[in-house]
Amino acid sequence: MTAQAALRTARLRLVPLAEEHLEAEVGLDADPEVMRYLTGRASTRAEAEARHRERLAVAARVPGLGFWAGFLADEFVGWWILEPPERPDQGPVAGQAELGYRLRRRHWRRGLAGEGARELLRHGFADLGLRRVFAETMAVNTASRATMAVLGMTHVRTFSLDLDDPLPGSELGEVEYAITRDEWLAREAVGPGGPGPASA
Ligand SMILES: CC(C)(COP(=O)(O)OP(=O)(O)OC[C@H]1O[C@@H](n2cnc3c(N)ncnc32)[C@H](O)[C@@H]1OP(=O)(O)O)[C@@H](O)C(=O)NCCC(=O)NCCS
Repeated sequence: MTAQAALRTARLRLVPLAEEHLEAEVGLDADPEVMRYLTGRASTRAEAEARHRERLAVAARVPGLGFWAGFLADEFVGWWILEPPERPDQGPVAGQAELGYRLRRRHWRRGLAGEGARELLRHGFADLGLRRVFAETMAVNTASRATMAVLGMTHVRTFSLDLDDPLPGSELGEVEYAITRDEWLAREAVGPGGPGPASA
């Protein structure tokens, strides 16, 4: 596979990020609550435009990986990402991707981040042949960590980044969660959502 695929879930349409999504990204990053554990403040239009160009460039780095814009009916919900590792401590680029997500606040706590991410894990392991998917966030980002956990990702390490402009809470570090292809396959074998009532 070379191009980034369009994906679907029960509720979401996930399309490769494109120029036409710029305004939606500007709106998303203008919410300081959305950006609380990313930069700690609303992004300016210029910052959001710069991030948009960087996001589009991700799709060119490794075939199949990139950002997906998510839509509920025709409404922009946010984005999901499978991105190649960037730092040496994240391990090899081959066979690995970093999972991420950022949703508009009005759509939080409806299971949508998990729903989209579950499809990205399926796509990454089953279609793209990834061996390991990891995710990182600030240790204090409870919502992001809870989303990683419902996906069957487990805590690998807590670590520090050498940040120029540390955010409140960064003294507690960053966390990495991960799931391997074998772990994902084992969860799939016991039914949607992994071990739980479905396996009883
Ligand atoms: C992180 C984020 C994407 C979660 O989105 P969401 O759609 O609300 O998540 P979901 O509804 O799919 O929830 C997934 C799990 O996390 C839990 N969860 C979500 N937000 C939570 C919170 N604030 N506190 C505790 N648990 C939370 C949910 O209860 C669910 O677990 P469950 O199935 O056991 O109930 C959203 O909060 C967001 O966009 N935050 C801002 C951007 C950000 O920080 N992104 C991550 C940066 S690394």
